[in-house]
Amino acid sequence: MRGFLLRCVLLWATLPRSNTQSTVVPATALNCCEGDVLILLDSSGSVTNYEFLRLLQFSTSLLRPFSLGSGHVRVGLLQVGTNPNLEFGLDVHNNQESLHKALQSVRQLQGDTNTEAALRVAQGLLKKTDENVPKVLLWLTDGVQPGDVDSAMGELKAQGVSVLAVSTVHGNYQVLQRAVTPPLESHLYSVDIDNIDIITEDMREAIIKIIRAERLRVVDLTSHSAVLQWRPVLNTDSGYYDISYNSLQKTGPETRRTLSGDSSWVELTNLQPDTTYTAALRPESNQRLYNTLSVNFTTLPDVSGPTLVSVSDTGSHQIRVSWGPLQPAQVQRYTVEYGAFPSGEVHTVTLPGQQNSTLLTGLQPGTQYLVTVCALQRNGKERAMSVRACTQDAALPALTDLQLIPVEHQELQVAWHANQEGLKGYWLSWERENSHSHTSKPSISSVYLPASSSSTRLMHLAPSSRVCVSPVYSSGRGEGLCCTEERHTDWQN
Ligand SMILES: *[C@@H]1O[C@H](CO)[C@@H](O)[C@H](O)[C@H]1NC(C)=O
Ligand SMILES: *[C@@H]1O[C@H](CO)[C@@H](O)[C@H](O)[C@H]1NC(C)=O
Repeated sequence: MRGFLLRCVLLWATLPRSNTQSTVVPATALNCCEGDVLILLDSSGSVTNYEFLRLLQFSTSLLRPFSLGSGHVRVGLLQVGTNPNLEFGLDVHNNQESLHKALQSVRQLQGDTNTEAALRVAQGLLKKTDENVPKVLLWLTDGVQPGDVDSAMGELKAQGVSVLAVSTVHGNYQVLQRAVTPPLESHLYSVDIDNIDIITEDMREAIIKIIRAERLRVVDLTSHSAVLQWRPVLNTDSGYYDISYNSLQKTGPETRRTLSGDSSWVELTNLQPDTTYTAALRPESNQRLYNTLSVNFTTLPDVSGPTLVSVSDTGSHQIRVSWGPLQPAQVQRYTVEYGAFPSGEVHTVTLPGQQNSTLLTGLQPGTQYLVTVCALQRNGKERAMSVRACTQDAALPALTDLQLIPVEHQELQVAWHANQEGLKGYWLSWERENSHSHTSKPSISSVYLPASSSSTRLMHLAPSSRVCVSPVYSSGRGEGLCCTEERHTDWQN
């Protein structure tokens, strides 16, 4: 068998080699890729122990350059025997050392080659993983009687899994050919076990092609900006990136920018809210050709909510609160919270998204209120704005009755009635005859009387004196009544 290579390997060797190997497979860990690689290892009795160990060694060296773990390359090992055996799952090993140890300690199952049963397990495993991450099933087999794998392999491929195979014996080539995903020349290798090392790099290259993280990802999105990130494939000297983007509807001109070769992210700004954009990143290198990466994303709806809250119609028991702008498309409903500032009980009213004002009633007079208008957006976000507003002082009750009863010349008995609630006292004012001169103008006198009083006698009134009585409440002076003593005039005439 030594030296027996199928034409696929030979074909590949004659193809002009790109200079990718030096750039793609550096000595250090390959931070190139993100993907799930599930090794389907034939562990049945037809595989010799020597072959089995060589296949494990091959796996070790094939995978050695990769950075392992979530966000990089995840490796699982599923053995084919009479019953499948998951040696380790995809999220077990996140470093080369532990993967290496695990591969060294795998024990051969022997038994039948029940590949189909193992493929069912593989389907379940790969279905559970992130669908955006490329998946590879690497089938290592001696090619002897693998069983009926066609339908299970077909389902895996329909799931988006790339199937690659290495066969160590000139076995059932037709079955293998049907099993792998194209292109055949880089995804199927039949090789003598002693020469398996010669395919390591080609096989790795084929895997890298599938799992290379050539993805432009949107890592942050607002209503007016997006941050795009990619795994760097260039450096400052080897080229630059060209990024272009536009709304999918092409509502504006395309924007283009050039980014230095060492960049790995870009923030696109001045975007329109709630708009789908398409962006394309082209790595420009004089050393090799890179694919243009593209991504579609939709900016978030504009952050909506009241930007203006105002009060009007302020009364002693009510405040009208208005807000704007109205955004019924974005805002599901408003809640208006209000309470006496700073520590009063908070009340809430809920209003539909089309409403832009409400009258808050049942408030305390002369009190400062904190009013918060909160917009609950359809996307679940909330935005609020607060104002402080004062209710007016209570309209103070008027004096209900005022009587002036003449007693003598220049004397009056004044009697009144007032609402007693909260009453502190009364201010009385009248015009008093100026004692120094009959010609000079009368002077105004005033006196404060306690709440218990309801009448008093005024003396030395000026002719036609106007007498006013105002109730005084704790919150201020109420509306008073005034009367003019007319009879005075009669006496003078
Ligand atoms: C972006 O959307 C357009 C139109 O729906 C589609 O043709 C294109 O394939 C999408 N691109 C990506 C990267 O999804
Ligand atoms: C409230 O909406 C009405 C029409 O629905 C509009 O005329 C008015 O200007 C709006 N008020 C505010 C404060 O936006």
